[in-house]
Amino acid sequence: MEKDLPIIPTHVAGLDEALGGGIPQGSIVLVAGTPGTMKSSLIYNIMYHNAQEGRRGLYITLEQTTESLRHAMERMGYGAIDEGRLYVLDLGVLRASLKKAESTKDWIGIIVDIVKEAVAANGYEILALDSMEALYAIANFEVPRRELFQLYASIRELGLTTFLIAETPIGSSKITQYGEDFLADGILHLRHVEVGETDVQLRLRTVKMRMMNHVHNSMALTFGDGSFGVTHVLARKK
Ligand SMILES: Nc1ncnc2c1ncn2[C@@H]1O[C@H](COP(=O)(O)OP(=O)(O)OP(=O)(O)O)[C@@H](O)[C@H]1O
Ligand SMILES: [Mg+2]
Repeated sequence: MEKDLPIIPTHVAGLDEALGGGIPQGSIVLVAGTPGTMKSSLIYNIMYHNAQEGRRGLYITLEQTTESLRHAMERMGYGAIDEGRLYVLDLGVLRASLKKAESTKDWIGIIVDIVKEAVAANGYEILALDSMEALYAIANFEVPRRELFQLYASIRELGLTTFLIAETPIGSSKITQYGEDFLADGILHLRHVEVGETDVQLRLRTVKMRMMNHVHNSMALTFGDGSFGVTHVLARKK
């Protein structure tokens, strides 16, 4: 790791070491996984702890309401946090903004503008968009690859460390729907793996993290006592 490369810590025990230090500030990281693989919780965890350290975050949830996400996170042990540090914005707020731009329905433009205004007003450093599939559903892309390219370019201009959450269909060999894997600086892939007859283990794999000499193997991701951790998975003896 270069000494002058600012890093965002994940606050997942063992993961920063596996990433070669953490996540380079300003990266666009795709967090892809099958349903229920704790994508939202993992990113909330990163943003919650960073917010406590003074790095403000904006979490845009297009899947759940602000209330349901906050409630789920409180149940997992993430106590109430000042909105100025970690702001959770849901579709309801975005729809209100859409009314102003009813004629264009340019969702990507609207979201980017909201983020820009929020960053200018509140100095957010970390952004999450949960999820890309929900965005596709409301944005009605005509040419998804081209529009996604523009989305990444607009996000990159903002200069924030960004987590884009993507849903991988169960059984799919592709991580993302439109091949945006190539546009992201980093990819964290989450999946459930059957171990033996009855056990299911949650695995996290850093598929890529530009600029970092990271571990490529799948690691077991665990959550307990209010915190996440990763551990190496021992290879089975033949
Ligand atoms: N207190 C807890 N301890 C351990 N695991 C929990 C706890 N609370 C919830 N979970 C697990 O977290 C999962 C949901 O996490 P989360 O909503 O972050 O996943 P997700 O990948 O974002 O899901 P979705 O595909 O619905 O968006 C639950 O299915 C459950 O297995
Ligand atoms: Mg989720």
